Amino acid sequence: MSIYSPAEDSYLMSKILENNLPELIKQNPDLKFLEIGTGNGIHLQTALDLRIKKENIFSSDINQEAVSHCKSLGFNCIHSDLFENFKKEMKFSLIIFNPPYLPEDSKEPRDSRIATTGGKKGSETINKFLEQAKNYLDKNGKIFLLTSSFTKGINFKGYKKRLLEKKKLFFEEICVWELKPTPITPPTCP
Ligand SMILES: C[S@@+](CC[C@H](N)C(=O)[O-])C[C@H]1O[C@@H](n2cnc3c(N)ncnc32)[C@H](O)[C@@H]1O
Repeated sequence: MSIYSPAEDSYLMSKILENNLPELIKQNPDLKFLEIGTGNGIHLQTALDLRIKKENIFSSDINQEAVSHCKSLGFNCIHSDLFENFKKEMKFSLIIFNPPYLPEDSKEPRDSRIATTGGKKGSETINKFLEQAKNYLDKNGKIFLLTSSFTKGINFKGYKKRLLEKKKLFFEEICVWELKPTPITPPTCP
């Protein structure tokens, strides 16, 4: 399976990292960074260039070719469908995901579908990610997630969201969101 070549979506995520990581590292020099669906590792290199410690940079992909490639670059990368192969006790300060977000299209070649197609409405992979990701964030942890105007039915329930950046492309608009889990308030006794 071929590895996703960085495109406009990747470059928007890079810009977000360049704008936000320096301040986050200042607040937490031991910041633990995870990218789900790392592809060719473009954001791992950005994280390293922006001085996140290499031992604190983690990544994964469902595509074994991408995993082997990122490992060959010296990055910590595991083969996993979202968080399936992560240990429960692993916690991260920042999780980023530039997901497959397009609705199913029979014309899309099989080889590239894994990187681009996020289920019938485009949101199935994203919604599974959102359900799982909050279990892997540390106390002040947050997520940077990229979405598109083509993606329908995203369920942000359980998160507070803030738009970091949007970009108009030919027929779509892509956005990067900052997401923080909303604290669960325990029921009070009458
Ligand atoms: C749009 S590409 C982004 C690649 C890279 N992060 C970038 O920004 O250029 C989506 C990536 O997510 C991976 N992916 C798709 N479904 C996944 C899943 N369920 N679990 C982990 N990775 C997945 C794909 O293999 C692909 O590398």
